Amino acid sequence: MAIRLGDIAPDFSAETTAGPIQFHEWLGSSWGVLFSHPKDFTPVCTTELGAVAKLKGEFDKRGVKVIGLSVDPVSDHVRWVGDIEETQGTALNFPLIGDADRKISTLYDMIHPNANDTLTVRSVFVIGPDKKVKLSITYPASTGRNFDEILRVIDSLQLTAKHSVATPVNWQHGQDVIIVPSVSDEDAKTKFPGGWKTIKPYLRVVPQPK
Ligand code: BEZ
Repeated sequence: MAIRLGDIAPDFSAETTAGPIQFHEWLGSSWGVLFSHPKDFTPVCTTELGAVAKLKGEFDKRGVKVIGLSVDPVSDHVRWVGDIEETQGTALNFPLIGDADRKISTLYDMIHPNANDTLTVRSVFVIGPDKKVKLSITYPASTGRNFDEILRVIDSLQLTAKHSVATPVNWQHGQDVIIVPSVSDEDAKTKFPGGWKTIKPYLRVVPQPK
């Protein structure tokens, strides 16, 4: 069964390039990103893992642990890591799960047989400190992901988890946000004492809360 937003991210044990883990225990109280890639020693995946390694500091700043997965064994991941470092100019600095028995990819519905019946698609799950799934996206094997976008979404998720706001189209950290419709103007006066701009009664714009 598909994993939906708000579901508890299923727990699992796994072998990884950083040793065995129990997923929930590994996450601890952090946010998490679990993402699959189709196969080791493939070009797009090589660029993606290099990009995530370069963004590790940005994930750390946001209190997010990142972990990758493919249906290759850890022994293949370990051999591939050298290629990532050589071609992408960065060492792999986060764990990769080896899921040769497809236990975890099946649990997370990462194999879409009508796309490919053996390889994982490019799934991304963002998981909150409550272990609930906050975002899931699926890309085909042929399209590398934009991990800056994943960071942008995490900024929105973390902000909207704390404040009664939503973020508009193409929003970037620091830009104005929207007061959620469930907050009345009366309540908004307390929550946003600096005031807001009403464009329509349902479209109220406010500077990003600190
Ligand atoms: C790639 O990472 O380049 C790739 C993997 C599987 C299918 C197509 C491309």
